[in-house]
Amino acid sequence: MTKDIQALVFDAYGTLFDVHSVTRLADARFPGRGAALSQAWRVKQLEYTWLRSLMGRYDDFNAVTAEALDWALESLGLAATAADRADLRQAYRELSLFPEVRGALERLAEGRTLAILSNGHPEMLDAVVDHNELRVHFGERVLSVHEVGVFKPDPRVYALATAHLGLAPEAIGFVSSNGWDAAGAKSFGFRAYWVNRGKAPVERLGSPPDRVVADLGELAGLLA
Ligand code: 2OP
Repeated sequence: MTKDIQALVFDAYGTLFDVHSVTRLADARFPGRGAALSQAWRVKQLEYTWLRSLMGRYDDFNAVTAEALDWALESLGLAATAADRADLRQAYRELSLFPEVRGALERLAEGRTLAILSNGHPEMLDAVVDHNELRVHFGERVLSVHEVGVFKPDPRVYALATAHLGLAPEAIGFVSSNGWDAAGAKSFGFRAYWVNRGKAPVERLGSPPDRVVADLGELAGLLA
């Protein structure tokens, strides 16, 4: 069945790029509070995407990420300068890869097309892809919700992958560490691979993933 998968489409933040790699800088600016800031920032960033979509509003992920940072800083009582905020926002453009990603992508690319489909604004996605030298795998296939003006898990977002790749949903494997994103992709019709980095329970959203793996190395073994 996995031989029918002609393309793998990856979520970006949390799946390829470790959003919590900002913790080091956050901890340098706010000693002992870096992990809490990173966690609060990410949670609020995602909430703001879902809430905007429910309100029928869209602001790009750069703006959402900046506003979530401001909220997270205030919620933790951290007095940040404009330079602190700018540096933390910049860190989002230079996130680290999870350690197994580079090797796994090399294996997963054999005989398949690879793409990214993310909430990120195209310009911030290009920055983090190029920072990590992943262009060799993805070329121009770095797709952003910005094109449809709504965030995941709206089905119009997943339809971007079928349109850009010229493939039916069942020919696409969607790979995400975000359980709710894997559920959205499965609901759309993709084969869904959930990278359960956080050892979380499966989301109860009526569209469980086809396979659960611990990391992309395990996925590469599965699809070899
Ligand atoms: C992404 O779209 C959900 O943040 C995640 O990259």
